[in-house]
Amino acid sequence: MQKKSIVLLTLLGAFVTMWTIACSNQSSADNGPTEKDSTALVKRGEYLVMTTGCDDCHSPKRMGPMGPEIIPELRLSGFQENDILPPVDKAAVAKGWSLFAPGQTAAVGPWGVSYAANITSDATGIGNWSEAQFMKSIRKGLYKGLDEGRPLLPPMPWFVLKNMTDEDLKAMYYYLKTTKPVTNRVPGPQPLDVLK
Ligand code: HEC
Repeated sequence: MQKKSIVLLTLLGAFVTMWTIACSNQSSADNGPTEKDSTALVKRGEYLVMTTGCDDCHSPKRMGPMGPEIIPELRLSGFQENDILPPVDKAAVAKGWSLFAPGQTAAVGPWGVSYAANITSDATGIGNWSEAQFMKSIRKGLYKGLDEGRPLLPPMPWFVLKNMTDEDLKAMYYYLKTTKPVTNRVPGPQPLDVLK
C-alpha cells in the first residue's frame, strides 16, 4: 500500500515537473526571445556590425594623420545633412572612375551621387523600422525596406549582405536599435548633371 502511494507520488511529481517545463517553453515561444536570448542577439549583432564594414560608409569621419577616423558621437549616422561635397571631377567619372567623399559617406559614379543612410536608432535612421523592413531592405535592396521603395544604389553592398542568415540579419537589426540615436536627415540621391 505504502509502496503504491510512493509510486503514485513520484509519478505525480514527474508529471508536475513536465507540465512546468512545457508551460515555460510555451511562454518563451509566445513572448519572443527571453531577456537572456535578446542580450545574446544584440551582442552578436554588435559583433557583426563591427566586423562587416558598415562603419566604412555609414560613419562620418574626420581626417587624421593616417586617414579617415570615425567620429564616435556621429557613428552610423550617415552623410551629414549640412555637409557640402567638394567639387566633383565629372570628367573623371566620364572616364570610368567612381569617387568617394573623404569620409566615405558619399559616393559618385555612373548612378549619380549616393549618400550613406542614417542607420542609428533615431527616427531619422532606422528607429521606426520593423524587423521585416530591415530584412527586406537588405534582402531585396529596397529603400526603407518597403515594397514600393526605390532600389538601393551603390555602393551599398546589399547583394552581398543578403547572403547572411536570417538570424544574423535580425541580430544586426536588434543591435542597431540599441545604438545612440543621432538625428540626421540624409539627402536623397542626385543625378550627376545637378553637380557643379
Ligand atoms: C561601401 C559602402 C557601404 C557599406 C559597406 C554599407 N553600406 Fe549601407 N548604405 C550605403 C549607401 C550609400 C546607402 C544609401 C543608398 C541609397 O540611398 O540608395 C546605404 C543604405 C543602407 C540601408 C538602407 C537605408 C534606407 O533608408 O533605406 C541600410 C539598412 C543599410 N545601408 C545598412 C547597412 C549595414 C547594416 C551595413 C553593414 C553590414 C552596411 N549598410 C554597409 C553604403 C554602404
